[in-house]
Amino acid sequence: MRGLRIRAPGGLDRLEVVTLPDPGPPGAGEIRVRLHASSLNYHDYRVVTGAAEPADGRIPMSDGAGVVEAVGAGVPEFKVGDAVVSVFFPQWRDGPPQVGDFSHTPGDGVDGYAREVVVRPALCFTRAPAGYSHAEAATLTTAGLTAWRALVVNGALKAGDAVLVLGTGGVSIFALQIARAVGATVIATSSSDAKLERLRALGAAHTVNYRTEPAWGRAVAEWTGGRGVDHVIEVGGAGTLVQSITAAGIGAHISLIGALTGRSGDIPAATMIVKQTRLQGIVVGSRADQENMIRALEVTGIRPVIDRSFPLEQLVQAFQYQEAGRHFGKIVLEF
Ligand SMILES: NC(=O)c1ccc[n+]([C@@H]2O[C@H](COP(=O)([O-])OP(=O)(O)OC[C@H]3O[C@@H](n4cnc5c(N)ncnc54)[C@H](OP(=O)(O)O)[C@@H]3O)[C@@H](O)[C@H]2O)c1
Repeated sequence: MRGLRIRAPGGLDRLEVVTLPDPGPPGAGEIRVRLHASSLNYHDYRVVTGAAEPADGRIPMSDGAGVVEAVGAGVPEFKVGDAVVSVFFPQWRDGPPQVGDFSHTPGDGVDGYAREVVVRPALCFTRAPAGYSHAEAATLTTAGLTAWRALVVNGALKAGDAVLVLGTGGVSIFALQIARAVGATVIATSSSDAKLERLRALGAAHTVNYRTEPAWGRAVAEWTGGRGVDHVIEVGGAGTLVQSITAAGIGAHISLIGALTGRSGDIPAATMIVKQTRLQGIVVGSRADQENMIRALEVTGIRPVIDRSFPLEQLVQAFQYQEAGRHFGKIVLEF
């Protein structure tokens, strides 16, 4: 079967298409899955390019979706033919955060899903949403669940709330869709006017170009009539956080998710105290969160926004496309 491996110390020129041995039948507690899709995340990019110091020979990609081919003893949850999607933290089943590293995360601490067949413990997967393609399901493991946790699990999102999403990547587009489904108002930013138009078509009530409007935090707060937003999907990190805090209302929940603009910086401590801002680091979510999200996706009818699909062997070209930053939503691999 086909797969990809990264040679240490990493780099797009260090990704190799390889023939991998068949993993054989599943043992007790395991399932064998024929994978058909994965999706690209910035985390995968960091692993592949060497920023996350991959082990030599690591099979990349955290997200995987496919069909159960065989079920080992003691696995009542799955049967042959079930459509399944991988989980980011197999060891975090439920409840509050329990994981502070990526040592068990597929495609980082352990081998991931850039391969056609895998045998893994059943807890490494959940069922996929009914009616989803494998490519759609593969967008949920990382980006979808991060947006869900930020808004629903930890943000207690409710109808009437105002949600600010930054940029048009996978996490932000999912957050927009979840917020709209719940009945919240969405304000969205992008560097591109063409993408802002697409955000409005998806239901954003107001959009701001963060390139042409550097004081976008004030512009967002003014648009809410000075009340400020209730939730921020903060994927920018150090370079955007001050503007996000400006946009936020009293008691707002800011989910600190990404560091696209920098990994550390100053924070306006006094403003945050007065505004009673709740700033929370978020890393994906638990397996139970993923199951709850999947039920909600089925009821709401949300479908992931997929920008472009690549075959497995073109993972390098897919990452180069991600690097260029022209995408809107998710980039996927199908195989
Ligand atoms: N903590 C977690 O659990 C978790 C999970 C998933 C992702 N992340 C992180 O979240 C970030 C986004 O991930 P993603 O998968 O959604 O990325 P992505 O699909 O690659 O999208 C990145 C988007 O961010 C926008 N962007 C870039 N610089 C920006 C800025 N200065 N201000 C506002 N937006 C900016 C761009 O939107 P425009 O082109 O519209 O300008 C770009 O398309 C990454 O840092 C990633 O590592 C964290």
